[in-house]
Amino acid sequence: MCGIVGYIGPREAYPIIIEGLKRLEYRGYDSAGIALFDGKDLKVCKTKGKVVDLEARSDKEITKHGSVGIGHTRWATHGVPNDVNSHPHISNSGDLVIIHNGIIENYESLKKELISRGYTFKSDTDTEVLINLIEDVKKQENVKLGKAVQIALNQVIGAYAIAVFDKNKPEEVVIARLGSPLAVGIGEDEFFIASDASPFLEYTKDAIYLEDEEMAIIRFHKGIKIRKIKDDSLVDPYIQKLKINLEQIEKSGYDHFMLKEIHEQPKAITDTYRGRLLRQEAIIKMAGVEDNMKKFLNADRIIIVACGTSWHAGLVAEYIFEDLARVPVEVEYASEFRYRNPVITEKDVLIAISQSGETADTLAAIKLAKSKGAFVFGVCNVVGSSIARETHAGAYTHAGPEIGVASTKAFTTQITVLTLMALRLARAKGTISSSDFRHHLLELEMIPKKVEEALKSDAHIQKISEIYKDVNNFLYLGRGYNFPVALEGALKLKEISYIHAEGYPAAEMKHGPIALIDENMPIVVIATKKGHYEKVVSNIQEIKSRKGKIIGIVTEGDVQVKELADHVIEVPETLESLSPLLTTIPLQLLSYHIAVMLGKNVDQPRNLAKSVTVE
Ligand code: F6R
Repeated sequence: MCGIVGYIGPREAYPIIIEGLKRLEYRGYDSAGIALFDGKDLKVCKTKGKVVDLEARSDKEITKHGSVGIGHTRWATHGVPNDVNSHPHISNSGDLVIIHNGIIENYESLKKELISRGYTFKSDTDTEVLINLIEDVKKQENVKLGKAVQIALNQVIGAYAIAVFDKNKPEEVVIARLGSPLAVGIGEDEFFIASDASPFLEYTKDAIYLEDEEMAIIRFHKGIKIRKIKDDSLVDPYIQKLKINLEQIEKSGYDHFMLKEIHEQPKAITDTYRGRLLRQEAIIKMAGVEDNMKKFLNADRIIIVACGTSWHAGLVAEYIFEDLARVPVEVEYASEFRYRNPVITEKDVLIAISQSGETADTLAAIKLAKSKGAFVFGVCNVVGSSIARETHAGAYTHAGPEIGVASTKAFTTQITVLTLMALRLARAKGTISSSDFRHHLLELEMIPKKVEEALKSDAHIQKISEIYKDVNNFLYLGRGYNFPVALEGALKLKEISYIHAEGYPAAEMKHGPIALIDENMPIVVIATKKGHYEKVVSNIQEIKSRKGKIIGIVTEGDVQVKELADHVIEVPETLESLSPLLTTIPLQLLSYHIAVMLGKNVDQPRNLAKSVTVE
């Protein structure tokens, strides 16, 4: 979603903001803009398009000078992506300037009220309403900017992260958050404002993350003051030392972040189980599970909520929790769960899965479950994210920053965490034998090496991609543990290549999708040795007799599918329950290569955002 960058200090703000906006590009956006105070006046430049378009336009339109500034990448919600709707927005007097992430839900009524008082609007955005509301409050109440922001935000319904300044008092920037993340980097007598820490990592590792319903007034030479928006009480700033470094958020020689992240999976999975999977001692150590073991053991059922790829990881977890720990599991789209008056009791455990930890629907589902007394456990990648903070306990995935919009290493590390949890619970419940438990630990420990093996098929997958890159439709089939992988493979292809793709449980094909099959339809079938192999082979035969083109994902050394399929891609053998960690890899590479061959923007596909902070 939208990205915010701001700077106040002794340096030139322009390059810091532009570079910062580029680092936030992964969040997804359709326009960009910047506002600078150049010592005399406010300079604003904004445009539909990318940050490079903004740079080109800035070269022509503004003096890129000034040590106070705010910049924005916009992912359109209210109003189409165009120059006028882009941020920053300026108040009617021309004094105040704002950038905003989120949605002001009651903007229509606020706008009517402001129009009746003589305000005019150039854009269709809720943000322009907000900046004029702030201006109106400032004038009516005769208060300073910080107070005006606070009063205005108390009239607003919705979600926001904002940064505002007044050209008449440019040594002060006011920021606030509710539902959209906002971090402040603390340098030496300088401050960086951003949606996440990536824009300021090279300048400082000291950061404050604003909590929901907090605002901060940042003054050059004077420091930062944080207050609660509702009751004006002062908050002690908590300064965190960031552990991520610049290298982790750069491409390191890969053409795309997505490819880098696909190749990072062996390390990401190892980092995720390190210190948790202790094979020699035959134990799994997970503090969040350990400390709340009673809740897990007494649970009537586990409800998993998530969106998109994280939801697919939840589906894999359903198989493994039920299979090993013998506990009933329901997997829900967070967006449906939160609105359908679900039956939740104090005996439910809810597991929320989210890479970003900021997904609005997942966050709302958590709040709903908490309000009904359920115990809520988070599986997040981004440390300190809203979901990580909102849950009672949790386990991080340790995948490292995931920048490519299409989720790859987040998925496999989520499955790793959930597998560890299921195994730990199974051990505590006695639903797994000691030898089976040890076997699982051994096999899980070997997964990173096997992922490395699976990655070696890259060149072969590239050739297959060349053959099928121009088709309009794809089918993905899998059974059991690999049914969710089929869904995930189809999602990956859709989101980055824009080719229509559907995932199905292989046996469901007969109930409808088989009608689609002809000689033009490529069908990716996950047919690994363990797990309904013979049944999948018969499904492949059904496809073959209808002339569909079969791309089989098979276990090394497979003979049967090889005879039937047009192409096979081998993955190493492992336990059925762990096979999604391997079968996913060729599907990620297939979608990646097809998208590259089609010339698509792999890391920032159209219309998509990395963290979906609006519902
Ligand atoms: C797909 C993808 C999305 C996310 C979904 C949930 O590649 O990235 O489907 O998985 O938006 O996001 P998180 O996991 O951040 O809650």
